[in-house]
Amino acid sequence: MLPEHRRKRIGERMLQRLFEVAEVMGGQWLTLEVRVSNLPAQRLYEKYGFRRAGVRRRYYSDNNEDALIMWTEKIRDRAVQDRLAELRKALGE
Ligand SMILES: CC(C)(COP(=O)(O)OP(=O)(O)OC[C@H]1O[C@@H](n2cnc3c(N)ncnc32)[C@H](O)[C@@H]1OP(=O)(O)O)[C@@H](O)C(=O)NCCC(=O)NCCS
Repeated sequence: MLPEHRRKRIGERMLQRLFEVAEVMGGQWLTLEVRVSNLPAQRLYEKYGFRRAGVRRRYYSDNNEDALIMWTEKIRDRAVQDRLAELRKALGE
């Protein structure tokens, strides 16, 4: 995302849609990789309940940076759904 479009809750709205699509498709968890240096993205994912589960060493071939592997809890769990609803409300959705 271009820097001038950041911090406008676009990332959050995309994640909200991702959880919805995953649920409709019958997914149970979400997982992703993120650069260890990308703290803004990590904060976003943590806000949505992703937790660190491991590291892929030298995952990014452009600079050999490590990737953090992050996973959610089961997306149908009550706690996860409650959190998503609370965050949706804060987004005004
Ligand atoms: C990471 C990225 C997707 C976040 O999207 P965004 O639309 O800017 O973020 P949002 O406005 O939805 O922010 C939601 C939350 O993300 C976190 N966050 C986003 N930018 C942050 C920053 N610069 N510093 C700290 N936390 C940040 C915060 O937890 C924030 O919630 P808060 O405002 O209640 O603290 C966006 O900055 C981006 O496109 N970055 C460049 C590309 C990239 O890193 N992609 C992800 C690759 S894994």
